Amino acid sequence: MTGRTSLTIVLAAGEGTRMRSSTPKVLHQVAGQSLLAHVLDAAPHGAGTSLAIVVGPDHQPVAEEAKRVRPDVATFVQRERLGTAHAVLAAKAAIAGGADDVLVAFGDTPLISAETFERLRAPLKAGAALVVLGFRAADPTGYGRLLVEGDQLVAIREHADATAAERAVNLCNAGVMAFDGRTALKIIEQIGCANSKGEYYLTDAVEVVRAMGLQATVIETGEDEVRGINTKAQLAEAEAIMQARLRQAALDAGVTIVAPETVYLAADTTFGKDVTLEHFVVIGPGVSIGDGAVIHAFSHLVQATIGNNTSIGPYARLRPGTSVGEGARIGNFVETKAAILEAGVKVNHLSYIGDTHIGAGANIGAGTITCNYDGFNKHKTMIGAGAFVGSNSSLVAPVTIGAGAYIGSGSVITRDVADDALAVERSPQVAKEGWATRFRDTKARAGKSK
Ligand code: UD1
Ligand code: MG
Repeated sequence: MTGRTSLTIVLAAGEGTRMRSSTPKVLHQVAGQSLLAHVLDAAPHGAGTSLAIVVGPDHQPVAEEAKRVRPDVATFVQRERLGTAHAVLAAKAAIAGGADDVLVAFGDTPLISAETFERLRAPLKAGAALVVLGFRAADPTGYGRLLVEGDQLVAIREHADATAAERAVNLCNAGVMAFDGRTALKIIEQIGCANSKGEYYLTDAVEVVRAMGLQATVIETGEDEVRGINTKAQLAEAEAIMQARLRQAALDAGVTIVAPETVYLAADTTFGKDVTLEHFVVIGPGVSIGDGAVIHAFSHLVQATIGNNTSIGPYARLRPGTSVGEGARIGNFVETKAAILEAGVKVNHLSYIGDTHIGAGANIGAGTITCNYDGFNKHKTMIGAGAFVGSNSSLVAPVTIGAGAYIGSGSVITRDVADDALAVERSPQVAKEGWATRFRDTKARAGKSK
């Protein structure tokens, strides 16, 4: 928002025990990226913004993930888990930095959008001291209830502390809040712990705001955007919602998706014009697909760059470090890894291409295997432009096949091949005239039938 600076504090000190996992809760993934990364991506970016994360002790991997996604993040540790207000105060030094708007979000709500963060900030500009994100819950059990009078928020009552009448309210606290930076610290420091759990509840900020004669208000959003993840079932629900969003965005951008419900995308997948995705295509993180590319059914792509007018699959597996040049074709049951295929390369059937560079227009026959691993190290295979590798060849790396060279089918190539040379490595063929007839006669005499 123009003119106002912001600090976003993301709380991620949760234990996540209900995930029944040794991975910290916020590092679980939706659409190929961590829950935390989704929240950090949505939080305000760029000039005039700053970011803080509050993690639990022993949560180094969480801090590292935050740094990877947003190198500008400041990390704070909440040593004891004494409630959401206590967690925010762990980042007191960041608040003291004096941002105009102080936003608080939870690290386990990956579906939150950048627009919602901005909407939440608007009433601060109009004079509110606190803005709370609310939603209408289909089942409000467990959520804090927003108690409103007109357009004023008067209190948030945690489920455990609510009366029967308050529990009937379905307007709930999503957990995302925006404070006016001038009063944020003063408000949060006044929060006590007189509730059934004996925790410092950030939600009590509303009553402090009221007591100070300031204003608190609510902005509403849809329930899907604020779903918090506490269990594996909720993680799967969030994945479904995110996939529906990503498919819709791809369709809106002009991607043809034959059976959208069967296709899985990553949050960072990018598409050119006139891309087609057939049934059951799975795309992991780090994939970009160029204009006119067709990804045929049952293909699996991760960290791969797919050029214009290419054809991939069906049943192709493109692993990290794959780059497919313009007009190239990768056919069925082909696996690639750290493989650069220049324009017009064909690898049409049943191959493994790893740690390999293939020059423009080369043809790799069915069943070609690059033998890149000797049990200790990985080695490179270089194949020159226009080379022709006959079917069922093994290329034992490190090895270089020259431009325009031919490899006879079934060869095991262990030495470099010069440009435009033919290399064949196999036993000479033996032909024995009439052998089959004699063999059958011998067997028949011995009383055997076929
Ligand atoms: C909280 C809200 C509730 C809201 C709900 C929405 C409070 C008191 N309650 O309840 O009104 O409806 O979220 O999902 O805020 N955390 C810390 N340190 C702590 C405690 C919590 O970092 O000491 C973090 C957790 O990691 C989590 C977030 O704060 O990301 C919320 O904590 P949680 O215990 O899940 O609160 P809820 O009971 O869900
Ligand atoms: Mg929660």
